[in-house]
Amino acid sequence: DSTTAFELILFGAAGDLSLRKLIPSLYCLHLDQRIHPEGRIIAVARRNYEREDFLKVVKKALIKHLNVDLFDEETWNSFAKRLSYAQMDITDPASYDTTLKHYLNRPDTPKVFYLATHSDMYGVICQHLYSHQMLRGEARVVLEKPIGMDYQSAVEVCKEVDKYCNEEQIYRIDHYLGKETVQNLLALRFANSIFEHQWNQRYIDHIQITIAETLGVEQRAGFYEAAGAMRDMMQNHLLQLLCMVAMEPPAQLNAESIRDEKVKVLKALKPITGELINANVVRGQYQEGSLNGQPTPAYREEPGVNPHSDTETFVSMKVEIDNWRWAGTPFYLRTGKRLPDRACEIVIQFKEVPHSVFELQHPASMANKLIFRLQPDDGIKLQLCEKRVGKGMSVKPVLLNLTAEHARKDRVPDAYERLLSDAIEGNPTLFLREDELLTAWQWIDPILKAWEHSGSRPEFYHGGIWGPAASTLLLARDGRLWQENH
Ligand code: BG6
Repeated sequence: DSTTAFELILFGAAGDLSLRKLIPSLYCLHLDQRIHPEGRIIAVARRNYEREDFLKVVKKALIKHLNVDLFDEETWNSFAKRLSYAQMDITDPASYDTTLKHYLNRPDTPKVFYLATHSDMYGVICQHLYSHQMLRGEARVVLEKPIGMDYQSAVEVCKEVDKYCNEEQIYRIDHYLGKETVQNLLALRFANSIFEHQWNQRYIDHIQITIAETLGVEQRAGFYEAAGAMRDMMQNHLLQLLCMVAMEPPAQLNAESIRDEKVKVLKALKPITGELINANVVRGQYQEGSLNGQPTPAYREEPGVNPHSDTETFVSMKVEIDNWRWAGTPFYLRTGKRLPDRACEIVIQFKEVPHSVFELQHPASMANKLIFRLQPDDGIKLQLCEKRVGKGMSVKPVLLNLTAEHARKDRVPDAYERLLSDAIEGNPTLFLREDELLTAWQWIDPILKAWEHSGSRPEFYHGGIWGPAASTLLLARDGRLWQENH
């Protein structure tokens, strides 16, 4: 058995993320026997549950959030044996002694403290863990995003946590890095020679990265009102995907080499300040609309949202990278809620042929494209042109599927399964280093500050369309189109 025993202490265990993603992922790891039989999960929350009450809540959440074929009573009963519930006030130092210590009774077992709370709490939790000697030996701390709400607050959270933990102990999570296609992107780039030669401004016209959601803000207005799409998605998930696409080949496939290369990309991002903010960044907020024939409410009418809110639920931007590889090749990034599709895609659009001998009505739509799809389905496709069958000599685009789906037997694991098992096993490769996190914040910060001070407001878009018109114009201005408009 290559797995190790562990104690995973989950702070914020009764919260949305824990019930929707983290505990279901642990259940799947258990189901597939990908975690050690001696692995224990200690759920920590403030609510006054008995263990049995908490188990009921978890069971209900698993049934709701897992695919039906994954849940069964027998697996549940054996999984539940791993779970304990520790009711405590995490700000009260005494409760670490009176409550938490009681559950951590195997000193030699590696510990993973997973902080799924607001990042304001990270410093205080680490302080108490440290002063109760819980961070000694093999102990890791996983920090959920967003860490801080801007550059300055991120620096402060980091400083606090750094007082009690070494960098090697801190696992800053960005669950997009746990998605299978993102790792496949590394495989495609660095295990094949045919693409890497073309992977630069000479051959690539531009790159698009989209994370589109059909969901609205759901029950998370409390968090989202203060965050908005820029902090919730762009500062982390989209910039991380951009790094994976744009980075230089690492010397080795280890955490430090990969993270060194990602930081170089972040440092080479052309600053978006002054005039460029209005020119290159579009923000939107959804109004009422319709999705799949169903009416959808406006953001301002959602429960818990200020009826005059200026929080953005959509951002698209043109990003440039000032380095040798990418000078002159724009990256267009886009994310939003209440868009027509749930889709996450990275599209690498190659330059058109220098001289076409075919009659093309829409030359740009014939360009070669490499499409990495992260969800809802996942896979890699290559768009090529082929001749239309029959008389004449006209060509049409076709998509070549590069994922050998028929050869895949296994279920594609959720991103959190991969990252939780990496954290348990002590593999930090797919987690962010502090300099990465802070460099990303530093780059985003002027945009957030300008929005705050200028009094400008997001543009409205109806639920069920691809964001405000300005987002289409952002590409149209450069003679380009977003992928779905082709
Ligand atoms: C989270 C954001 O980080 O990512 C959510 O806080 C968003 O607002 C979610 O819905 C999207 O993740 P996924 O994996 O469902 O695409």
